[in-house]
Amino acid sequence: MNVAIDRVTVAKFDVPGPRYTSYPTAPVWSEDVNEKVYRDKLQAFGKTEKTLSLYIHIPFCRSLCSYCGCNVVVRKADERFGDEYLKCLSKEMELVRRFIGGRKKVAQFHVGGGTPTFLSEAQIERLYVKAQENFDIDPEGEIAIEIDPRTTTESKIKKLRALGFNRVSIGVQDFNEDVQRQVGRHQPYSLVKELHERCRELQFESVNFDLIYGLPRQTVKSFRETVEKVILLRPDRIALYSFAYVPWLKRHQRKIEASLLPSSDLKLDIFLNARAQFLEGGYMAIAMDHFALEDDELARAFKRGTLYRNFMGYTVKPADEYIGLGLTSIGFLEGTYVQNQKALPAYERRLKSGHLPVERGKILSPDDKKRQWTIRSLMCQFQVDKKVFAGLFGVDFDQYFKEEKTHIRKCVQDGLIRCEGDKIYATDLGKIFIRNVCMGFDYYLKGKGSQQKFSRTI
Ligand SMILES: C[S@@+](CC[C@H](N)C(=O)[O-])C[C@H]1O[C@@H](n2cnc3c(N)ncnc32)[C@H](O)[C@@H]1O
Ligand code: SF4
Repeated sequence: MNVAIDRVTVAKFDVPGPRYTSYPTAPVWSEDVNEKVYRDKLQAFGKTEKTLSLYIHIPFCRSLCSYCGCNVVVRKADERFGDEYLKCLSKEMELVRRFIGGRKKVAQFHVGGGTPTFLSEAQIERLYVKAQENFDIDPEGEIAIEIDPRTTTESKIKKLRALGFNRVSIGVQDFNEDVQRQVGRHQPYSLVKELHERCRELQFESVNFDLIYGLPRQTVKSFRETVEKVILLRPDRIALYSFAYVPWLKRHQRKIEASLLPSSDLKLDIFLNARAQFLEGGYMAIAMDHFALEDDELARAFKRGTLYRNFMGYTVKPADEYIGLGLTSIGFLEGTYVQNQKALPAYERRLKSGHLPVERGKILSPDDKKRQWTIRSLMCQFQVDKKVFAGLFGVDFDQYFKEEKTHIRKCVQDGLIRCEGDKIYATDLGKIFIRNVCMGFDYYLKGKGSQQKFSRTI
């Protein structure tokens, strides 16, 4: 199952492309999706028995890490910022619940950021209680939060567990002090080690570490040491992100001296080394950049082909629909993507005047739905069942994707997929480079050069 990949293979398949947390991808969304559209979708959803995945975005961070590519608002530690924001979030939850017409069952609850642990214990409790008032959060479901070791005290982590959170994702990035100095993130190994031990004592069901390769001053040796330390701690899952260096989009990344960044060859070596270390260390590679302990439910689902993927990453607990709350949050409801305002003043203004803070989105066309289903099936199940497609959409798969035939043939020749009867299966190599397979089914990539706005895999 764990495939060996080398330089030549990576060079061949490492092209810029979407990560397919959504299809159609965000660059083609528009303001056609407004508050009125969203209200109608919420009302339609309210009439169904479908389950929900709920995401809440807390945008604040105490300081900015110079590499950061997330949607962040920097604020000094002062409860007033959180209080003000929580008032808006409460209003948003009430509005959403009102349009749905009741408390919906939530199978997956995720608080992300920015830094959710920017909030005080009392504020996190208030947020969770408010969410429970408005939604029926399944205590057996995934209840997850992203935590920054620098703002997570022992008492705060205990509070999170007591409230019912059962999964944490810890921002680790890199243990090397020189790298940490370069990116403005001082975070000693001992801090992460102690936090991880507390998480284990408190019996969180799953602990994830985020790491980034390609940061300034990283070397193969320095990152090898970081990975060794990670493997010693044995988190259940690891997200090993490729540093997305986009100074034209994220102005603060200009603080990073480009000459200190590893060259693309070195970056690739750092990745391949880290990957080999995780595989030797008992982890299974889940697609390109995720690793899970062999007995973790994510690894088991990956082997069974019952993995799902959404905006929050890979999951084993799928929900029918998604609602995003808070600044920049994304939802997918009744065949429509909806994204909230990206600027804090606009977000707060809309809610204070009693409006849902919708900024843009995408209503899926019949063609979008067929391609979305195909891409999702490839991303999550690593296969496509043409009979299921025909049953769902009333049209023959091969007929519908006539123009994609050459792409399918090329993927077979490249060893990414194999076709057997009514099924297309991703090979082990294809599971790693699955987005290359998906890209051939993406209608919006058919325009020349349109993939340039996306980052590369590595
Ligand atoms: C929204 S952050 C939440 C974590 C939390 N704020 C912290 O830093 O501890 C989620 C993750 O995104 C990753 N990330 C942020 N900026 C990135 C970039 N430019 N390229 C790749 N990964 C990035 C980091 O690994 C980070 O832990
Ligand atoms: S990496 Fe995390 S703590 Fe650092 S700026 Fe980004 S969101 Fe904030």
